[in-house]
Amino acid sequence: MEFEQLALERRSTRGFKPDRIPQEVIDEIVTVAKHCPSSMNTQPWYLHVVTGDVLDRIRTGNTEAMTSGVAPNREIRGHGRYEGEHRERQKRVAAQLFEAAGIGWDDKAQRQDWAMRGFRQFDAPVSMIGCIDRDLHDSTEAYFDLGQFFYGLVLAAWDRGIGAVINGQGIMQSAVVREHANIPEDQLIVITVAMGYPDDEFAANQVVSERRPTDEIVTYLGFDD
Ligand SMILES: Cc1cc2nc3c(=O)[nH]c(=O)nc-3n(C[C@H](O)[C@H](O)[C@H](O)COP(=O)(O)O)c2cc1C
Repeated sequence: MEFEQLALERRSTRGFKPDRIPQEVIDEIVTVAKHCPSSMNTQPWYLHVVTGDVLDRIRTGNTEAMTSGVAPNREIRGHGRYEGEHRERQKRVAAQLFEAAGIGWDDKAQRQDWAMRGFRQFDAPVSMIGCIDRDLHDSTEAYFDLGQFFYGLVLAAWDRGIGAVINGQGIMQSAVVREHANIPEDQLIVITVAMGYPDDEFAANQVVSERRPTDEIVTYLGFDD
């Protein structure tokens, strides 16, 4: 696929067929993604790709922790609650997803069920856990680098007919993820991505999220000189 088509057509996938992704295909995806730029070519990322029993243990552990009221224990600093225009955009995409999934905005039980799907990595056959070297935990560049690597992963996956959703919920209980995925102590858990072949019957997979107008994002200077 041409890059522009790929970038414009990609969207997050939150409903998956159970089919496993062959390990060789995952290897190809990672090999494409690792060509992203990184600060001083440090390439500070690590990827732990889990499937089968290991992923099931993470799903179960996340679910038990969330339902029994264990406080979230991420290893990264979070933003807290979004406010203002960020909150409005968060609500807008949630409304689009809930509408597609037939979830009433005020239906707490259905919304809770949707949230639990996120903690189960959307029941995807594969989850990738993204880490950086722990000694770079204060380096904003390292998180920027990992973000680029993850965008490469989701684009390379989409190019092969594989859907994905980058999933912050997946590391909300990082102690669970660390234990079952056997993450080395010198790595910091930052993010996950759930990946698999899209279930086309899952209506929320068709949601096209909105984007801010380009002229609101960009300030041009010196072009009229
Ligand atoms: C850092 C990050 C964390 C995310 N965490 C979640 C998440 O926990 N649950 C979820 O459903 N989507 C999550 N997403 C996906 C975003 O909601 C999605 O990318 C955004 O709404 C734009 O939609 P699109 O990917 O379909 O273009 C996350 C995306 C990023 C980049």
